[in-house]
Formats: sequence, structure tokens, C-alpha cells
Amino acid sequence: MADRKQATCIAPVNIAVVKYWGKRDENLILPINSSLSGTLSTDQMCAKTTIAISKSFQRDRLWINGKEQDATGKRLQNCLREVRSRCGSEIEGCHYHICSVNNFPTAAGLASSAAGYACLGEYFEYKEGITKIQFTIRQGSGSACRSMYGGFVKWEMGNKSDGSDSIAVQVTPESHWPEMEVLILVVSDKKKGVSSTSGMQTSVKTSKLLKYRAESLVPKLMTEMETAIQQKNYQAFAEITMKDSNQFHAVCLDTYPPIAYMNDISHKIVQLITHFNQYCGEYKACYTFDAGPNAVLYVLAKDVPQILSAVCHYFPCTENHDSYIQGLSNYSDVKEFPK
Ligand code: DP6
Repeated sequence: MADRKQATCIAPVNIAVVKYWGKRDENLILPINSSLSGTLSTDQMCAKTTIAISKSFQRDRLWINGKEQDATGKRLQNCLREVRSRCGSEIEGCHYHICSVNNFPTAAGLASSAAGYACLGEYFEYKEGITKIQFTIRQGSGSACRSMYGGFVKWEMGNKSDGSDSIAVQVTPESHWPEMEVLILVVSDKKKGVSSTSGMQTSVKTSKLLKYRAESLVPKLMTEMETAIQQKNYQAFAEITMKDSNQFHAVCLDTYPPIAYMNDISHKIVQLITHFNQYCGEYKACYTFDAGPNAVLYVLAKDVPQILSAVCHYFPCTENHDSYIQGLSNYSDVKEFPK
């Protein structure tokens, strides 16, 4: 690190199939439940971040996709403070210039900050090891710690108050289930209204459903999901993924005031996938939605062409979003899907 003034690294996006929602410790960023995600390959969706440090920089500065952002935000500064305290005298008096480019919509609920913060983690190779790196990354974005690994990754909530056992570990490597593909349906590339951080704070305060989910439902879901992945059991994987996404958005609606991340088009996608699976007599696609209206479909490679034609048929590319909804208004009359 001493002789390195600038470095660029790439970190992938991860998409949770058992969602993280809620913190039990806001300073250490400790979750109220374990979570599990798939890491996308970096040639599809990733954040490329260049970090330069110098004594000649007057202040920390941050650019995302070429536009300068406020670098004084609490999460970024917490993360940088951690880095400063760990790198010590080597970087004393230095400021950071951070430039991150995503090849996908930023802040539209597509885990963009996770990829960006994971880059920070890759950049700073601490002597202390992975637990400390993960701790620092989580200061930026909790779910970012899952982007440290490829394949399927779980973030164990842990139960120690110092957070030393709250750590992301790989469940299976990239090579385990190469047939698994991810399709992202961008419903809106607008910045989300309620950030994950503030949304989950309100949920923790107000939603009894979240408490029940975290304590009584997620532990079993985690075990079932891990088994489904280990056994490459797509039918089980698909059902848990969709139910978990539904439950997460039910928690958002149970939050007071309620949070609605999904919009009409998101719900139409749920209907299309449900109807498509019923039509096929088995799960061929499963959806999951994070803190935004965009859909992520986990699909086996052999089924991608058919799913894509169904999606493109009912959601033809047009600037006019009303026509997407129009296009699906009679979905239940559909007797046959395009091949
Ligand atoms: C819905 O990691 O963005 O995508 O820790 O407050 O930064 P903070 O939240 P963040 O939340 C991600 C929430 C989610 C579910 C998930 O990825 O597990």
C-alpha cells in the first residue's frame, strides 16, 4: 500500500435470494437475520472503481458514473475512517478521490453500492484478514460483504455482540451451478425513493412481521435454500426465492409508514412468471425484487430463450411504460406462450 497511489478494481453485483433486511447494531452493521445471494459474473454487471490517495488532495471526493457526488455522507465517511485507522501512518494527511462506474442503473435497487463498496474492500488488503475487510465494507453497505466471493454466498448474522462471527462465506463456488443464469428486467432506472438503510430502520421499529420473519422464518429458509443450492434443485430454489421476495415486500408494506418498492409493472412481471410456470407445470423461472421495482429472474440456461421471448412479447421495448401494463392486461387469457 505504501508505494501505491492509485488502483482500479472491479467488483460484482450480488442478488439476494434470502434477503437481508434490518440491523441489530447500526454502528457495527450487524443484521437481524442471515442472508444468501448469488454473485453475478463481472463481465455482465459490476462496478469498476478507481481510488487515488494523495496528500495534495484538499478533501475526499467521489464520482459515480462521471457525476460528482457528496463525499461527506455518513456511510462513505465511516468506511474511509475505518480504512484510515487501519492503514495508519502510511496514509496520514491523505485524502481520497474515488471514481466508480457501474455498467447498470445506479441506486435503482440493483445492489450498485454493494459492488462499489466491495471494490474498496478489494483495494485495501489488510494484514488483519477478511473479517476486518468485511467489517469495513459493511460500513458502506451491509450486503456488500457478500460481493467478496463468487458463486452463492451467505452472510451469517452471528450472535456475538462484537460482530466477530457476523461474516460472509461462500456456500458454493461459481463452478458449482454454471447452468444458472440471471436476467435483469429494468423496470425503472430512477433512483429509489426510500434508501435500504432508512427503509430497514423504519421496518425494524414498526413491523412485527419483520421480527417474526427474522426470528422464526429465516433460519429454516436459510437451511432449505443451502440444501437446494448444494443439490442443484431448481424447483426448491425457485419456490424459496419467490416466497422470500414476496415476504420481504410484505414486510415493507407492514412497515409504518408503508414502503412500496414494487410498482404496477413489477406486479405484472410476478403475474407473468406465475402464469408461465403454471402453464409449464413446473418452475421455469423465478423472480426476486430488491429495494426497487426492477425484477431479477434466476433461470436455468436451457429455459432462457423461452423466458426471454415471453418477456419480450408481453413487455415490448417502448418508452411508454403504460403500454407495458396494457400489454399484460389480459395475461390470464393467455393459452400459449411464444416459443
Ligand atoms: C433489499 O446492503 O443496501 O437488497 O446495509 O443499509 O447499506 P445497508 O443496506 P443494503 O441492503 C440491501 C437490502 C436488499 C436485500 C439484500 O441484498 O440482502
